[in-house]
Amino acid sequence: MQRHLFSFLAASTVLVLLHVATARDLRNVVEPKTPQTCTSLKASGEDDTKAIQKALDPCTKGKAVALSSGVFHSGPLTIPSGVSLLVEEGVTLRALTDPTLYDTGAKTCGTIDEYGVGCKAFITMHGAKGSGIYGKGTIDGRGSSIMTGKNITWWHLASNAAAVHKFQNNPRLIQINNSVDITVHQITLINSPMYHLVASETHGFTVWGITILTRPSALNSDGIDPIGSQNVTIAHCNISTGDDNIAIKALTAPAKHISVLNNHFNRGDGMAIGSETNYGVSDVTVSGLTINGTHVGVYVKSNTMRGGLVANISFENVCISNARQPISLDMDYYHHHGNRTPEFRNITLSNIRVLTNGTFIIHGMNKSNTIEVAFNDVHVTKGAYWSVRNAKIKGSWVEDETGHSCGYAGNENLLPYS
Ligand SMILES: *[C@@H]1O[C@H](CO)[C@@H](O)[C@H](O)[C@H]1NC(C)=O
Ligand SMILES: *[C@@H]1O[C@H](CO)[C@@H](O)[C@H](O)[C@H]1NC(C)=O
Ligand SMILES: *[C@@H]1O[C@H](CO)[C@@H](O)[C@H](O)[C@H]1NC(C)=O
Ligand SMILES: *[C@@H]1O[C@H](CO)[C@@H](O)[C@H](O)[C@H]1NC(C)=O
Ligand SMILES: *[C@@H]1O[C@H](CO)[C@@H](O)[C@H](O)[C@H]1NC(C)=O
Ligand SMILES: *[C@@H]1O[C@H](CO)[C@@H](O)[C@H](O)[C@H]1NC(C)=O
Ligand SMILES: *[C@@H]1O[C@H](CO)[C@@H](O)[C@H](O)[C@H]1NC(C)=O
Ligand SMILES: *[C@@H]1O[C@H](CO)[C@@H](O)[C@H](O)[C@H]1NC(C)=O
Ligand SMILES: *[C@@H]1O[C@H](CO)[C@@H](O)[C@H](O)[C@H]1NC(C)=O
Repeated sequence: MQRHLFSFLAASTVLVLLHVATARDLRNVVEPKTPQTCTSLKASGEDDTKAIQKALDPCTKGKAVALSSGVFHSGPLTIPSGVSLLVEEGVTLRALTDPTLYDTGAKTCGTIDEYGVGCKAFITMHGAKGSGIYGKGTIDGRGSSIMTGKNITWWHLASNAAAVHKFQNNPRLIQINNSVDITVHQITLINSPMYHLVASETHGFTVWGITILTRPSALNSDGIDPIGSQNVTIAHCNISTGDDNIAIKALTAPAKHISVLNNHFNRGDGMAIGSETNYGVSDVTVSGLTINGTHVGVYVKSNTMRGGLVANISFENVCISNARQPISLDMDYYHHHGNRTPEFRNITLSNIRVLTNGTFIIHGMNKSNTIEVAFNDVHVTKGAYWSVRNAKIKGSWVEDETGHSCGYAGNENLLPYS
């Protein structure tokens, strides 16, 4: 009895220490709890935009509007401060496909132009505190559906735009701006016409146990993008999409104190930091990540067009298979040149396993602006191709990996999968 108790206490202590050592979000984050319901709605089978918005607006702070049965069809929605949306298991919230509903005023939503900012998001939070999206239901952006009044799909518009080096005006699925303590829990997000879940300049952002499942051919369909946000935890998510699975950016404000814990990626462009590093990205830990089938695995990118200091970045307990570029740390991303100075300092790779062949990139800017990376227990397969330049490297990788399975990358006890 006593010995069991002792080993239990010893084990808990180790877990607590590990947690402190690993998490970078300064908050103490635990699995979110679904709020109580203020109103429950059933789908009408018609346009439910007004019904949902009418329920959200007066909902008591701290509570949620529950979508409790059926398939809801809706245009853009705004979640007020303090209020949450709960999409219950078996329920789907589907975005209407009429671009005019999302238009920001210039009548460009659903067209191609030089800017790509003509649509508002399907779900918006702005200046919110303590809002969230919860539930085991699904939010469907319908990127593969023909737009109302047009003859092509949102995704087709995106590939047409890419073909002429312009931008599609497509709605993002969820856009959170200038908010505090926002939670996204359990929900499944599919088929966004554009990025799935973006949090700009948000302090306190917890994304826990969500699934993103979108076709790899969907251009610009990033999974989760914290942009200029701080105190962020993204844990236990399963992401498969057509662009960066997670992209941490600092386009308009610094991004820091970010924990990315125990996630799994299938298709996508990988775990990215940048290329918008302008205001600096620091104190990021990515721990317990399994990847199977992304283009790039771990991706830190900037260039002299962006600039910014990228520092104190730790990737640990990561296992990668079937990625063309399992690791790419690139200060000269796409050779886009400007007059800013990117700096990559104190990037650590620890306990990394790469099970399949690929190209590894470690590119500093030049002899006087090198990239600083430390390798610790990094195992790759024999014959992998390494392109290394302008780099100050501590430690090295070992070409001895022969495994065929990732498991949970070795830290399944850190935060139990729920
Ligand atoms: C991050 O969280 C810590 C701990 O709760 C808090 O003290 C700090 O103010 C937060 N940072 C921001 C930018 O909100
Ligand atoms: C869609 O409509 C445009 C004109 O608005 C036409 O040029 C184009 O061929 C049509 N595409 C398809 C796939 O029908
Ligand atoms: C949210 O911020 C983005 C820039 O990060 C901006 O493009 C967008 O217009 C903002 N949306 C709202 C509703 O303020
Ligand atoms: C992730 O989601 C995919 C597709 O739904 C599923 O096949 C896979 O088992 C999930 N993986 C994990 C680790 O949950
Ligand atoms: C480097 O980053 C690690 C965390 O990733 C941090 O613990 C350490 O203090 C940093 N070292 C320096 C010299 O900044
Ligand atoms: C990196 O971490 C060290 C040690 O915690 C800290 O002193 C330094 O300010 C951090 N760098 C940045 C850019 O935040
Ligand atoms: C190295 O790159 C930096 C920009 O990161 C630039 O300011 C500097 O002039 C370059 N130095 C050399 C020797 O090319
Ligand atoms: C993969 O590994 C083999 C040796 O096992 C090597 O001959 C080949 O060039 C490698 N391919 C790539 C793309 O790195
Ligand atoms: C990666 O996924 C493929 C199926 O797409 C599967 O056959 C393979 O075993 C997976 N590899 C690992 C290491 O999980």
